[in-house]
Amino acid sequence: DAGKGGYEHYMLKEIYTQPNALSNTIEGRIQDNEICLEDFPKGTFSGIDDVHFVACGTSYHAALYGQQMLNRAGIRAQAFRASEYVGSNPGPVSDKTLAIAVTQSGETADTLGALRQAKSQGARVVTVTNVVGSTAAREADDSLFIRAGPEIGVAATKTFSSQAVTLSLLALRLAEDIETATPPEDKAELLRSLEVLPENVEKLLTSTEAKRIASRYAGSKSYFFIGRGLNNAVAKEGALKFKEITYEHAEGFASGELKHGPLALVTPDTPIFVLFNGENDTKTLQNAKEAQARGAPVIAVASEKHSSADIADSFLEIPDTHPVWSGLLANVKLQLVSYHAARNLGRPIDKPRNLAKSVTVE
Ligand code: G6P
Repeated sequence: DAGKGGYEHYMLKEIYTQPNALSNTIEGRIQDNEICLEDFPKGTFSGIDDVHFVACGTSYHAALYGQQMLNRAGIRAQAFRASEYVGSNPGPVSDKTLAIAVTQSGETADTLGALRQAKSQGARVVTVTNVVGSTAAREADDSLFIRAGPEIGVAATKTFSSQAVTLSLLALRLAEDIETATPPEDKAELLRSLEVLPENVEKLLTSTEAKRIASRYAGSKSYFFIGRGLNNAVAKEGALKFKEITYEHAEGFASGELKHGPLALVTPDTPIFVLFNGENDTKTLQNAKEAQARGAPVIAVASEKHSSADIADSFLEIPDTHPVWSGLLANVKLQLVSYHAARNLGRPIDKPRNLAKSVTVE
């Protein structure tokens, strides 16, 4: 219990220490509005023309975030589930392919299998991991450490935030190195708002609304999470966290996909968390209204005074920030909702049934 530092669960501690974890992740990596990544000085990735992310579980969702960051810069990139990558033909792989293995532990068998396959086919392999000296770090050509500190709770929390930030920094480096890429025009603003991300997480941790929402919607049949673009990754992660620790049914979708199937499941008994980040929000709002018209309670996750507040049944407020980081704030709110929902149900939060922190079999 000493390791919990006064928190009831490791997971809660790991949620609440995210400002510190994120500060460590960022430390020294932004200097004078430029990205400084230890082993990856400017020019490291010139010649790369395709990026394959391979990862599992929560790390896969961080990889989806990374993929979006690269796609925004016009770089060809795809996030693969490592278990699907192994033994499949993911398309051409060459020395112009960068394979990025995203793995908190660095020991996940499926991810190691994908890393080895990409390497054997000639790709350059980088691992983004939390564990120095892990198998992934040893086998990859290069490593970038997320520096989140040890994570004990089986359900990954702070490591997702640190992975997404590390992958975003890596994506920005690639956008500078690859000639055909288009680095973001507002890079300075983007980096400035990243530097205050730890403070913004700190701010949202003081509110009790996530706890209230968890109680308000307890006992529902299913829980849905929708988001668009970067927030699609967050919607999927929000649902994964919820099912892992509450044992309740939850699914995350791309907002626009709701009407292509999942809407058949929507009833007054299926609350839907809707993530807004200031990009294409009008469309997402329309998707939320479609669910609401079928009776589903809408819980909007957005910054203060967002237009969704007018229609939402409940509102989870996050600090206003650059759209690129907004999802990471929303994700912390959703971690808290999952935590309190699981606690209300008396679940063994740090060690959910049937799950392991690191899965070393394929
Ligand atoms: C297990 C854990 C998940 C984790 C996944 C990938 O399934 O229960 O929380 O996201 O492995 O782990 P990794 O260490 O590769 O990030």
